[in-house]
Amino acid sequence: MAEKANFSNIYKFYDFINSVITLGFDKSWRKKASNQITGTRVLDLGSGTGAAFQQLQNLEVTAIDPDEKMLQLNKFKNKIIGGAENLPFPDNSFDSVYCAFVWRNVNEPTKGIEEVYRVLRPGGKFILLDMTRPKNNFLKLLHKIGTFKVTLLIGLLTFNLKEYRFLHSSLDKYPQPEEYFQTHPFQYCNIERMGLFKFVYLAVLTK
Ligand SMILES: C[S@@+](CC[C@H](N)C(=O)[O-])C[C@H]1O[C@@H](n2cnc3c(N)ncnc32)[C@H](O)[C@@H]1O
Repeated sequence: MAEKANFSNIYKFYDFINSVITLGFDKSWRKKASNQITGTRVLDLGSGTGAAFQQLQNLEVTAIDPDEKMLQLNKFKNKIIGGAENLPFPDNSFDSVYCAFVWRNVNEPTKGIEEVYRVLRPGGKFILLDMTRPKNNFLKLLHKIGTFKVTLLIGLLTFNLKEYRFLHSSLDKYPQPEEYFQTHPFQYCNIERMGLFKFVYLAVLTK
């Protein structure tokens, strides 16, 4: 398994490929996730090229991402280079932290969750949208075969095999979200599944 995707290698066509992989559903999933935002001070964690700009542009957004090249294409005004594990903000700085298709890339997720908790105000929401595997074992197997073939094909076509192989293998990085998010410092957790075979989840954690 590739240790980490290097988004600097794929930043130019990232948004297009993302839409292909998700069959264009990523926009509606992002909309659903952004509808969960409360308050105006929002951290777009792992903002990348700013795919959520349309949904979040009327809020006070701080976009943070460790990849400078992805951020160069990002339209949010307030952009900071950095990662989930070490957020450069005081405690209780945000009403909501929005985080789409990022969590599988975070090297130290336990530290990341603690940091998100710290920068959220009490009652604030951590809104996480990401892909995982279906719960049903048979569908999980089908999904594994499908994502292997699709990511292999896209990796070959774009000469970025490593990045797209990572996408496939990172889907197995964590336990199912219903289990994984039970051990966290947040007060309340709600998880909704979406997409074909329900391989996409939206987790809303309240501080
Ligand atoms: C698949 S992209 C998602 C970008 C954007 N959120 C979206 O919805 O399209 C994953 C992003 O996570 C960023 N990332 C990787 N490691 C991270 C970390 N430790 N903390 C925050 N973001 C990270 C990458 O640089 C990349 O921009």
